[in-house]
Amino acid sequence: MLDPKSKKYYWFGERRGSPRGIGCYSSSDLYNWKREGVAMTAEAAGLTGMVFERPKVLYSPTAGKYVLWYHHDDAKYAMAQLGVATSDNINGPYVMVAHSRPNGHESRDLSLFVDDDGKAYIFYSADGNTTIRVVALSDDYLSLTTLDADTRAHCEGEGVFRKNGVYYLLSSACTGWTPNRTAYAMATDIMGPYRGKGDPSVGDTAKTTFNSQPSFIYTVPGYQDGYLYMGDRWNGSGSVKSQYVFLPIAVTKSGAMELRCYGSWDLSRFTPGTASLVRAGEGESQTRGGRSPPVTSRLPFLPGFDSAIDDPEQGMRLGKIYASDRAMDPAARGLASVRAFRRSPSRGRIFLP
Ligand code: GAL
Repeated sequence: MLDPKSKKYYWFGERRGSPRGIGCYSSSDLYNWKREGVAMTAEAAGLTGMVFERPKVLYSPTAGKYVLWYHHDDAKYAMAQLGVATSDNINGPYVMVAHSRPNGHESRDLSLFVDDDGKAYIFYSADGNTTIRVVALSDDYLSLTTLDADTRAHCEGEGVFRKNGVYYLLSSACTGWTPNRTAYAMATDIMGPYRGKGDPSVGDTAKTTFNSQPSFIYTVPGYQDGYLYMGDRWNGSGSVKSQYVFLPIAVTKSGAMELRCYGSWDLSRFTPGTASLVRAGEGESQTRGGRSPPVTSRLPFLPGFDSAIDDPEQGMRLGKIYASDRAMDPAARGLASVRAFRRSPSRGRIFLP
């Protein structure tokens, strides 16, 4: 999220090492990330051994607090609840306020979406991961309401964005830590009905969403179409060496969603402007039109960068990372980045061999 106070981007992820909890990073450009530490731990909440997954944060102007929603569970994933915690500081520590099953439904993976009118919604994997439901939050974002509907989408790893008045819901299949094929659904009302549209991946020969599972879609401010796919590469077991994949989402003129993999890319792939000024069919993301993006850096993103090389935490990225096309094979890239980091542990620039 873009912090309204500091004007910096903040990124939250699962800390899968010890202590287990939620990690936090900050960035002024979305390319270079600084570790902010652990925003919340199960231990601090008196819940050692519990599972805190899929954290999402937003700022509540009404409450004057940062609000963190997450998957709250026991080690057997039997509680299946949504947890909410708050903090006065964006990087924590967050203190748990409540946890429950939304309107009686099981809740595991989740994503969060704030609409143009400021209303926030949680999309959650419900009822034994058989479907995705959407529940509206209260105006202060601190609690759940009874506005709760079944999208009938299947069934984990939710990510949501809105373009030209259409809601796009991306989700993974249900294969534990193993990457699988995503699918998306579209609706003109956030509560549905949603129409299934299939896999948006283009050129994904292994049909594993480029070896990842969706975690979130971030709408980058300052662009008509800055939809950033953030996916987990769990490396088979949700291990401390899990990685992240950042990819640009494109929407075609006919409104179809497309996800492509690039060895490196930067924000100039998006069209500068304000999303609300775009009329149906205009401002597609392939239109680069020679306009300069509102970023000072042109450093490429690295899909699948090393998130946990010297730190047991997902989502870490230290210094500037450059990708090379030679490291396109996911397995080779993981190894290459470990070697590169060991050679250059100074938290400076990282070059992949
Ligand atoms: C996955 C889910 C993860 C985690 C895992 C546990 O399907 O996407 O968030 O809950 O199961 O096995």
